[in-house]
Order: sequence, then structure tokens, then C-alpha cells
Amino acid sequence: MIGLRRIVIGGALAWGAVAVAWAASASDMQKLAESQGCFSCHAINHKKVGPAYTAVAQRYAHNPNAAAILQDAILNGHQGTWGVIPMPAYAPDGYLNPHQALDLAKWILSLKPKP
Ligand code: HEC
Repeated sequence: MIGLRRIVIGGALAWGAVAVAWAASASDMQKLAESQGCFSCHAINHKKVGPAYTAVAQRYAHNPNAAAILQDAILNGHQGTWGVIPMPAYAPDGYLNPHQALDLAKWILSLKPKP
């Protein structure tokens, strides 16, 4: 009985650690997006010049290539999925490397609309 309780407590601790680690990296992504000016055209929950990030997450929710598609859009720019205004490319001037763009893509895909 005592053994079982230990396992349960250990499991709860492990989950806590995972949640904290993810929260830290989500706030890092938010800071990176802020520093790159993403929020001058995007918001998490509503449309600005570009689509709301939660709308992007919903649109690609069932697309197995979503992270790669969004990484490419961030690095090379994109036009036509959400309207006529283009998304600027972030690779050419060295603003973002592919690793950062993939992290941003995964972060955007993890965002859930507010109920
Ligand atoms: C000058 C305005 C502008 C800025 C700055 C901007 N975006 Fe965009 N973004 C757009 C527009 C407009 C679209 C819609 C493009 C389309 O219709 O294909 C878009 C689309 C996107 C998409 C969806 C792409 C797709 O294929 O559906 C993602 C993801 C995205 N932006 C992320 C970012 C990130 C991350 C940054 C900062 C590094 C950023 N954007 C900065 C205007 C902007």
C-alpha cells in the first residue's frame, strides 16, 4: 500500500515538472514573437493584419505536416491562405533560423482558443 502511494506521488511530481518546463518555453516563444514584431500583425485570439494564432492552430489541427508548413511560412513568407496580404519572410535577413521558426510553429499550433 505504501509502495503504491509513492508511485502516485512520484507520478504527480513528474507531471508537475513537465507542466513547468512547457510553460517556460511557451513564454520564451511569446517573447521571441514579441521581439520579432509578430504581434504587430498577429494576436493570439483575434484577427489583425494576419490571422489569430488560435485560428491557425484550429485550421491545421488535423494536418500531420502542420509544423513544417508553418515553419516554411515563417521562414519564406506566405500568401493566399488567409487573404491577399502576404506574410513577410523571416529567413533572408537572418531574423530567424529554421530551429527558431519550428519552435514558433509548434508554439502557435499548441494555442487553444479562449472558450
Ligand atoms: C507585416 C505583417 C506580418 C508580420 C510582421 C508577421 N505576419 Fe504572420 N502572417 C501575416 C499575414 C498577412 C498572414 C496570412 C498569409 C496568407 O494568407 O497565406 C500571415 C500568416 C502567418 C501564419 C500562417 C501561415 C499559413 O500557411 O497558414 C503563421 C504561422 C504566421 N503568420 C506566423 C508569424 C510569425 C511567427 C511572425 C513573426 C516571426 C509573423 N507571422 C509576422 C502577416 C504578418
